[in-house]
Amino acid sequence: MLVSKIESGVVIDHIPSGKAFQVLKLLKLDPSARVLVAQNVESKRMGKKDLIKIEGSYLTSKEIDVIAFLAPNSTLNTIYEWEIKEKRQIILPEKIEGYFNCPNPLCPTNKEYTAPKTIFKLLKGSKIEQTILKCTYCDSLTYYGTIQQYLNSNNINIEGGGLVSQEKIEKIFLDALIKGGALRFPPSPDQPFILKSGRKSPYFVNLGTLTDGESLAKLKWAFASYIALLIERGDIPDFDYIFGPSYKGIGLAALACEGLKELYGMDKRYLYDRKEEKAYGDVSADQIIVGAGYYKPGERILVVDDTITTGATKIDTFNKLKILKDHKVVGLIIAVDRQEKMGDNIKIENKTATESIQEELGIPVYSIQNIKTIYNLIKDSLDPEMKKLWLEYYNRYGTIKLHKT
Ligand code: CTP
Ligand code: ZN
Repeated sequence: MLVSKIESGVVIDHIPSGKAFQVLKLLKLDPSARVLVAQNVESKRMGKKDLIKIEGSYLTSKEIDVIAFLAPNSTLNTIYEWEIKEKRQIILPEKIEGYFNCPNPLCPTNKEYTAPKTIFKLLKGSKIEQTILKCTYCDSLTYYGTIQQYLNSNNINIEGGGLVSQEKIEKIFLDALIKGGALRFPPSPDQPFILKSGRKSPYFVNLGTLTDGESLAKLKWAFASYIALLIERGDIPDFDYIFGPSYKGIGLAALACEGLKELYGMDKRYLYDRKEEKAYGDVSADQIIVGAGYYKPGERILVVDDTITTGATKIDTFNKLKILKDHKVVGLIIAVDRQEKMGDNIKIENKTATESIQEELGIPVYSIQNIKTIYNLIKDSLDPEMKKLWLEYYNRYGTIKLHKT
């Protein structure tokens, strides 16, 4: 097996013995990949060595840089049409971007949102164990032991940058909602918010209050990060446009679009609808939907908005989109899901607005935040009367159960 040649792919040779499986773990190869690992085989140069052969795929320069931390001085053979096209030594790079986090909590790379990617300069010694990473933003040092610990952990993302966890998106988003006044709580339990539906609510959500730069930066970050995460998880397919229903959706669509490009390198266009009716004859698509001039039949659209109160207004929106021939709406992303049944304070329907859209239109709906999560985060700070208001409200109108403790 060891001597059988491969047609194309890579052979990583002269890996320090016992390190092959660690290197392999870093590479996160597809389970169907053809791989041969040899451990502790004889080597003229090293006594014993490990070796990995990977058929049919090549390594990225980023992967090679990270392998250097585990298996410095190993040989990388690149094979094409049975021949070794390139033979090179894997050596530590001068600089490394991404992968590692800066240990300094105050470093700009550790900011909670819109943080720059880490860039470390490598300070090399005569032995690999003397390698130190120096953060180019704050000069903090990371020593070899920490680097090794990180390489052995399971959370290394070799592509760098990486996606933000849902928990972090939820937390920062909630913080932005509260700080910007978009999520408000009544001053006392006997002064609840009276909603359009007549329901007396223990909170009120209105993204329209977020007009300052700081809040917009967080909105952009949260929408873009959440959309990138949903695509990565396969919850929504990739798409071509982000559509924001007027008026509130317009800003969100533009922000999400810009954020996806800046933070995740995904270049989409955005669309929005005009609210005013065009009563006269032959209307072209872009008189109703701004940005439709670029649209080609069969393209996919993601819709973003702040909340859904009644499903009806969203259904109007989706009807407007029909002017775009053969389009497909891949999903609806809203900021906050109230998780309550449609209707008013007397008539309570069975379904939530979210469910009605999912069932009637077959469009998956995702929300960045929802009331259950928000309640669980704030419940310990509520006084007993206020908590009662929450529990009663969701007992009556909710589709979720809130718990006292
Ligand atoms: N190899 C392979 N398929 C090929 C060509 C080479 O799998 N089509 C493997 C060989 O089996 C060997 C490694 O690639 O494990 C390097 O090949 P080669 O340079 O021919 O061997 P060595 O002289 O042992 O390498 P070095 O000079 O790096 O010690
Ligand atoms: Zn730093």
